[in-house]
Amino acid sequence: MTSSIRKCAGRILELLDEVGDDVLAEEDAINAAMRDLLAVPGLDTMIVNPVRNNTESGLGWIYYDGDIRIVRGTMTAGMNLEPHNHGSWNLFGVYTGALLYKSYRRMDDASTPFHAKLEIVEDRIMRAGDVTVLPGPPDDIHSALGLAPHTVTVLVARAPFNPRREQYLPDENAYLVFEGDGLDAVKG
Ligand SMILES: [Fe+2]
Repeated sequence: MTSSIRKCAGRILELLDEVGDDVLAEEDAINAAMRDLLAVPGLDTMIVNPVRNNTESGLGWIYYDGDIRIVRGTMTAGMNLEPHNHGSWNLFGVYTGALLYKSYRRMDDASTPFHAKLEIVEDRIMRAGDVTVLPGPPDDIHSALGLAPHTVTVLVARAPFNPRREQYLPDENAYLVFEGDGLDAVKG
């Protein structure tokens, strides 16, 4: 299994080396590499790092080479990650279960503090094997709502997530700001 994961990570790295942060430039190839990763058996039960997370949440790294990291996460039905950014692009897939995924484009010029006007780019149910490519800032805004009793997700990222995060209120054209309060590098 480890060699299968390494192989998928290698292919993803190859593609990232071609496109830099412009992940949409090779969206189809990246999607295909991500689907190969999601086809590797056992990702839902393997031990993740940091090990302390295994019993709490199942959240943690399944691969990390100092460059890219592959992070497993779990969601229960009704668990809602409100629209938020990470400060970087990410590649995201559902391993088991299902969730409602939305991504957003930032329509304003970000010049007015706490104001943000968003437009929905993606709004779909993702099931096992489905993947999505989220571009870098300012359009790295997404939300996820767990639909299945237990959903396992896989996320690939490169840059550290920004310790300053924005959580958006699309109906209010506003956002909240969170800084470093327990947001660590493994959070999806
Ligand atoms: Fe996220």
